[in-house]
Amino acid sequence: MSISFAPLHPLFAAEVAGVDLREPLSAPAIAAIHDGMNRHGILVFHDQAMDPLQQREMTRQLGVLEVGFGKVVATHRAAGGPPLRTGYAEVADISNLDAEGAPLERASRKVISNLANQLWHSDSSFQKPSARYSLLLAVQLPSWGGDTEFCDTRAAYDALDPALKAELEGLEAEHYALHSRILLGDDNYSEAARSMFPPVIWPIVRTHPGSRRKLLFIGAHARSVLGMTVPEGRVLLMDLLEHATQPRFVHRHTWKPGDLIIWDNRCILHRGRRWDMDEPRELRRTTTADVD
Ligand code: OGA
Ligand code: MN
Repeated sequence: MSISFAPLHPLFAAEVAGVDLREPLSAPAIAAIHDGMNRHGILVFHDQAMDPLQQREMTRQLGVLEVGFGKVVATHRAAGGPPLRTGYAEVADISNLDAEGAPLERASRKVISNLANQLWHSDSSFQKPSARYSLLLAVQLPSWGGDTEFCDTRAAYDALDPALKAELEGLEAEHYALHSRILLGDDNYSEAARSMFPPVIWPIVRTHPGSRRKLLFIGAHARSVLGMTVPEGRVLLMDLLEHATQPRFVHRHTWKPGDLIIWDNRCILHRGRRWDMDEPRELRRTTTADVD
């Protein structure tokens, strides 16, 4: 069976059939996935239940693994914190579960820290290189809520007013790992955690290499615009985010166990949605770095 792509939204996102990600991927299958990613920005695969080691090794076929915010978790662990639930620093535990698999208290560090995933963001935009692909696999899902939403910032850029496009040309924003968390009032980070992520600067308008389309590189890690006062920059960033996340640019995914979604963080923003955190929700994420 050959690999095929069925669009899920008028502007982006496709469902993939004809590939089992648990089997070694042929060179043509890898090329087809990259090509599908460049075209659709997010790819949805079904029935791909796999263990963390399989996910890590599968991801290696699509790029260079990154650790990103997992550095903080790995540091906590090295300092005597709980063991990594996935067993691998490159496989992020996107869950509200403790080591025994029971839902954590809502006030626990991990639950609080993961709440930032519910703000629109591009993974690892707070570091250089930032993330290219994120691969999120659904393991256990709550009975209500917990969808994930995606928006295509290329389509959002295309729809901007020409005067605003001209104003954005050459503007740069500073991205900081803890900004989204601090915004939520979660500012209980050690000096060591803070210094792990010095802020980085990215152009607000970038060109997506695989599609040659311009895009808005924004999201919850962006905290200021160079050359503007902080309030003016934040108002601009909030305005752009509100534009980019209008329903017409958004695709919402309701998960089933075994669903695996790959998105391109260079041109896609995403956010999780609320659920009843007394119930388990467990996903696992691997990420590739944006390097060639
Ligand atoms: C992530 C993320 C959203 C979700 O894993 O990077 O933002 O729905 N997840 O869990
Ligand atoms: Mn994320």
